[in-house]
Amino acid sequence: MTEEMYLHYHGLIVPKETHSYESLEFAQGFKFEDDDVLAVTYPKSGTIWMQEILPLVLNGGDLTPIHTIPNWERVPWLEEKQLARVVDKLASPRALVSHFPYNLMPPSFCTSKAKVIYVMRNPKDIMVSSYYFHQMAGFLEDPGTYDEFMDKFLEGKVMFGKWTDHMKSWRNSELGDRIMYITYEEMAQDLPAALRRISDFLGCNLTEEVIQKVAEHCSFKSMQNNNMSNFSLIPKVYLDHDKSPFLRKGIAGDWKNHFSSEQLTRFTSVISKELEGESFSLPWSLD
Ligand code: A3P
Repeated sequence: MTEEMYLHYHGLIVPKETHSYESLEFAQGFKFEDDDVLAVTYPKSGTIWMQEILPLVLNGGDLTPIHTIPNWERVPWLEEKQLARVVDKLASPRALVSHFPYNLMPPSFCTSKAKVIYVMRNPKDIMVSSYYFHQMAGFLEDPGTYDEFMDKFLEGKVMFGKWTDHMKSWRNSELGDRIMYITYEEMAQDLPAALRRISDFLGCNLTEEVIQKVAEHCSFKSMQNNNMSNFSLIPKVYLDHDKSPFLRKGIAGDWKNHFSSEQLTRFTSVISKELEGESFSLPWSLD
């Protein structure tokens, strides 16, 4: 099953439906420009949220792109098949997203001044979100039981590998002031404040009026109702919203409705062990 559905790339598995060796090579040869903006996420940390936010922050709140261009073309994934098709149509300054760990970034990224926003999410909520995503996405392996999926997640036998490896690679990236860290939880708690931080980091100087407008259009409800962002344009065989909507709950802390105390202990102990000796601390408590 895994062999049919995933490609192997530098020790990671990635879904064949959305990635090919050509697209991964295209990403390696991609020429970053100094004014490009990249949002990096481990899957299920808020990627499509950034696909909504970035164009609006970069263009002063003009709603045209989010109402006329599907999210995967508007702010394409660096590593996915779509990029080669849409790259020449991207508005400047270009915004992209990526699930690559730092060590897979192309050479031109490292020599450019492109800015990066790394979005982190509590790994327990990532796992819950990912579990439902594996149920609804026809191009991903069936997750099995919740307990089985937890093992796969902790062993990194899921797309883009272990959460801890991904996060460590970007926390230790030495990108200095080219990188900004933000959490899903921070965005969920106070989106206007998160947008002010993003706008300042990108040097966009948005007025308070525009910040409020962008926050309204990037709310969970607005995105659920935006056909250019809720994946309703994708055939059911690939994404089946009857099994679980892509924009599922949009909250922090849903793990509390899913983890048994034994699972919580197991999860916390594996993740804590893998983060031992790291110089950064996590923005959330693991237990
Ligand atoms: P849940 O499954 O917990 O609801 P990604 O885009 O990286 O795949 O992440 C998907 C997760 O981000 C889903 O989490 C989705 O609901 C959530 N999300 C997307 N847009 C959001 C928004 N505007 N507000 C809150 N959560 C959002």
